[in-house]
Amino acid sequence: MKEKWWHDKVAYQIYPKSFKDSNGDGIGDIRGIIEKLDYLQELGIDLLWLSPIYCSPLADQGYDISDYYNIDPRFGTLEDLDELIAEGKKRNIGIVMDLVVNHCSDEHEWFKKAIEDPDGPYGKFFYIEDYKKGDKLPCNWRSYFGGSCWEPLPGHEDKLYLHVFHKKQPDLNWENPLLRKEIYKMINWWLDRGIAGFRIDAIINIKKKLPFCDYPADRADGLSSIENMLKEATGIGEFLNEMADECFRKHDSFTVGEVFNEKDSDLPLFIGEDGYFSTMFDFSTTFIDETGISTVEPVKDLQEKYKKASFKAHKRVDGIGLLSNIIENHDEPRGVSRYIPKEDLSDKSKKMLAGVYFMMPGVPFIYQGQEIGMENLSEVKSLSELDDCANPDLYRRAIEDGLTEEEALKLISLRSRDNARTPFQWSGDVNAGFSDAEPWLMLNPKYKDINLEKQHDDPESVFSFYKKLIKLRKDKEYERTVVYGDFEPYEEEKKNLLCFKRILDKRILVAANYQREPQVLELDEKVKAVLISNNAELAEKVTEAGTRILLQGYDYLVAELGEE
Ligand code: GLC
Ligand code: CA
Repeated sequence: MKEKWWHDKVAYQIYPKSFKDSNGDGIGDIRGIIEKLDYLQELGIDLLWLSPIYCSPLADQGYDISDYYNIDPRFGTLEDLDELIAEGKKRNIGIVMDLVVNHCSDEHEWFKKAIEDPDGPYGKFFYIEDYKKGDKLPCNWRSYFGGSCWEPLPGHEDKLYLHVFHKKQPDLNWENPLLRKEIYKMINWWLDRGIAGFRIDAIINIKKKLPFCDYPADRADGLSSIENMLKEATGIGEFLNEMADECFRKHDSFTVGEVFNEKDSDLPLFIGEDGYFSTMFDFSTTFIDETGISTVEPVKDLQEKYKKASFKAHKRVDGIGLLSNIIENHDEPRGVSRYIPKEDLSDKSKKMLAGVYFMMPGVPFIYQGQEIGMENLSEVKSLSELDDCANPDLYRRAIEDGLTEEEALKLISLRSRDNARTPFQWSGDVNAGFSDAEPWLMLNPKYKDINLEKQHDDPESVFSFYKKLIKLRKDKEYERTVVYGDFEPYEEEKKNLLCFKRILDKRILVAANYQREPQVLELDEKVKAVLISNNAELAEKVTEAGTRILLQGYDYLVAELGEE
């Protein structure tokens, strides 16, 4: 693999609205992020991805952009952002912005002009179709947030526009070269401002299968998931390659795509040496609890499914490129609540989960609060306590699938995107130290137990463990092996044992006993030194134990293999 400047980086995702409020309005902001840069530097972060901070009506929390060239006043100003970029540079932290170009906001001036003159140039920036009341819709696609993806164009009874997400997020028409030119201009404007790159939102949706047509209905609403259409849409590569050429390659930027459902044969094109993107997220483990029907039952064989999914994902890109590894983000529940059985949730098991995904090949991303082991909201009492525009459909579907109202709320507390969006728990003080005012979204009631202040100086805390993991990735002796080493699963068939080697100039073993019962690990080579463990006793004994190692429940270990 040709070496790239970003290969050895550790990234951190900030959800700005919930990170740190600097001016007491209950909403996190850019100055709050600046205040916490020293903290992020101390943790060891190199790249900082900010979820959108552009002007937005916040119908989908910033993923509905009304001005790509400006910062929403709730988050600050362009000057604040320039300062963040400059202060980041001083600390070797590169800023990665969110690029949301499948759609904009219905309050963007392009859409306003399209409403004024649907047949004019800006009408062609969107998908606008003629419609006679009572007629069949142009197609039966269901928007990601529920309901039809067609909405009457305001002021025009005889026209509809397409939105695959919220109705306040009209889709941009990438078939139109003028639209693409505008997008590239905007991207370059940001890259020239000194950001390190972009996380690229929902990008797989920019290519539609045209002309519009119906797909088999897959729910009682008679609609069909967008995914059915996406499977048949071909030709996205031309757009992505053009964007890479016009923008990213010139700037040698870091780009990470939000890509789903890609074919094996597409991988080299997406993340190969000269791919459209630097890397893309590995979402493979987020599908292991997707059963197709709403349920609050715990996943069967969760641990084995987790292992199989993540191993397969990394083997699949072997020799092609690097994935970006996550256990959660702003769209997913908290990883520790999702991938560790509830009864086993502890600092120890949280550290194990952290250690496993961190030592896989790829770029590790930490989502804010993950480094202190923030958990899901346990008991949501009513939808009105929450915010996310995806909640109503999640709830509606649960009821459709036969869950009781109580169960549907439980499902929300397991799955809602708001689980990850509650404010960062800086301390056990009022408003968890996030703000002087009441936060825009409820706090996780566990903040008195789980907060940074409590963990910061404790060498045994989850936070300190993350620091150690990052330090190990950056340790000159091991860095190359951790970044470029081969990935070799070990004893893969052994139930709930998650074990692999990373091999280059060093031979590194990563072992996790992903269950509460002890189990024995038989090695085929000796342990030379223990580099990290979440069990001090184990770390002490391992080198003497020879090749037979007894792992206690949720034990985790990184060791160097070989003779003394
Ligand atoms: C991506 C974002 C998500 C947003 C959607 C529409 O999936 O991560 O938060 O709702 O795109 O922009
Ligand atoms: Ca604020």
